[in-house]
Amino acid sequence: MTNVLEVKGITKHFPGVLANDHVDFDLKKGEIHALLGENGAGKTTLMNILYGLYKPDSGEIFKNGEPVVLNSPKDAIAIGIGMVHQHFMLIPVFTVTENIMLGDESIKNGVLDRRGVSAKVLELSQKYGLEIDPEVHVEDIPVGVQQRVEIVKTLYRRAEILILDEPTAVLTPQEVDDLFRIMRELTSQGVSIIFITHKLKEVLAIADRITVMRAGQVVGTVTPNETDEPHLAAMMVGREVILNVEKEPAKPTEEILTVNDLHVLDQRGLEAVRGVSFSVRAGEILGIAGVQGNGQPELVESLTGLRQSMSGHVTLMGNDVTNRPPRPIIEIGMSHIPEDRQRHGLVLSYPIADNLVLCTYYLPPFGVKFVIQNKAIDEYARKLITDFDIRTPSPYMPTSNLSGGNQQKVIVARELSRSVRLLIANQPTRGLDVGSIEYIHKQIVSMRDKGVAVLLISAELDEIMSLADRIAVMYQGKIVDVLDADKTTKSELGLKMAGAGVSVTP
Ligand SMILES: Nc1ncnc2c1ncn2[C@@H]1O[C@H](COP(=O)(O)OP(=O)(O)O)[C@@H](O)[C@H]1O
Ligand SMILES: [Mg+2]
Repeated sequence: MTNVLEVKGITKHFPGVLANDHVDFDLKKGEIHALLGENGAGKTTLMNILYGLYKPDSGEIFKNGEPVVLNSPKDAIAIGIGMVHQHFMLIPVFTVTENIMLGDESIKNGVLDRRGVSAKVLELSQKYGLEIDPEVHVEDIPVGVQQRVEIVKTLYRRAEILILDEPTAVLTPQEVDDLFRIMRELTSQGVSIIFITHKLKEVLAIADRITVMRAGQVVGTVTPNETDEPHLAAMMVGREVILNVEKEPAKPTEEILTVNDLHVLDQRGLEAVRGVSFSVRAGEILGIAGVQGNGQPELVESLTGLRQSMSGHVTLMGNDVTNRPPRPIIEIGMSHIPEDRQRHGLVLSYPIADNLVLCTYYLPPFGVKFVIQNKAIDEYARKLITDFDIRTPSPYMPTSNLSGGNQQKVIVARELSRSVRLLIANQPTRGLDVGSIEYIHKQIVSMRDKGVAVLLISAELDEIMSLADRIAVMYQGKIVDVLDADKTTKSELGLKMAGAGVSVTP
């Protein structure tokens, strides 16, 4: 069987980085070929080369056995390659149809056949089970559906090879299931898919073949039935990885955070948090489990000073911090890993070193008598870069140059390395690879063991189950139950998360 796509010996340097090192990769018609690797392994670089965005230093690309040269995405689209990027490129105020028409060559002569395009979008959507309304505005649809719009956009341009770069990173478990269903539908109709991820369970569930990359090189290609999670993890990381968190039973002491009957409105002015009370004690991890959209972000924003609450009280170590801004809460002893890292966690234009001391630069040893101590910052930054395995050639690169996963590690490194009494960790490992997850989980447990109170919010039930000592289930803005982690099961939690046995008045 010929390969629809094949690359041979692709090499690509960036300043100080060998991003792709003699990479060979092929794709058969109608298959899902997963490309698995840690952050910084070189996956996106290889895909950007296939999409004509980067020119390789050397190497060849073949389409149906014929050599091709891709100088721009236009060339890639012309031979049937479509790519859905990690960050979507849709315009929120435009409708689905308008977004799909954007930049389309066939509209060049000034005739905007909106109706024709809309009909075609509907037809494609139905053919592949995508369930998209061509006339809605992109800002009004959930992330999972926006992603389908990106997929339809490539199909509209007659893509027969689809590159999905970390498509599941932004999705809920339910949306992942929908995406997998759509991917199977696409391949059954002859589309070939390159599926990029760093999640082991996903490649085992969906891929026909799995190619693992590490540090710019291909480590090997396997099929799901000849491998398993530990084996794939070892291929990715280059050593054995402990996939389960090891921890002693918690020894909680005094209450650090106390939340009393808190009510918080969301962006649209609707009550998202509807009378929540709980406490977190020193030396324990309280996990908040819940399906997305049940008030978790509003709760966390209110606790961290990013959103005003309507009523209720928040006490941090005896201090009333209700509706205080972030700075005084941080000074009392809170650290926060925010969900939206680019908006609330980093100043992207700053060097990595500056982001690592963003909350502490004015305190000794970094600021002494209003003078910034560059040497102390340099040493500290280098230590965190090593400890947290932040992949960068220098502490002084703008943080915006890092991959998403490495940006996340900058925040996590900063927030887990300060001396604090309360850690609020919101999706702390989202978008990270197994090696980094293992390290960050260990750090969170070690903070707990040092007497920090940890509030963990995560969409990954596995993460909550393995880290938390107690689990509060949030449903429709309320905490419907608090369970001991070692006395509950995933299915019990899942049922409570779906509101089973709960009567909540709207
Ligand atoms: N435009 C760029 N300029 C400089 N370095 C880059 C650029 N794009 C990627 N890199 C570097 O190349 C390496 C591979 O990155 P990438 O292909 O994004 O990895 P992955 O997608 O597997 O996480 C990383 O070290 C990254 O920092
Ligand atoms: Mg990438």
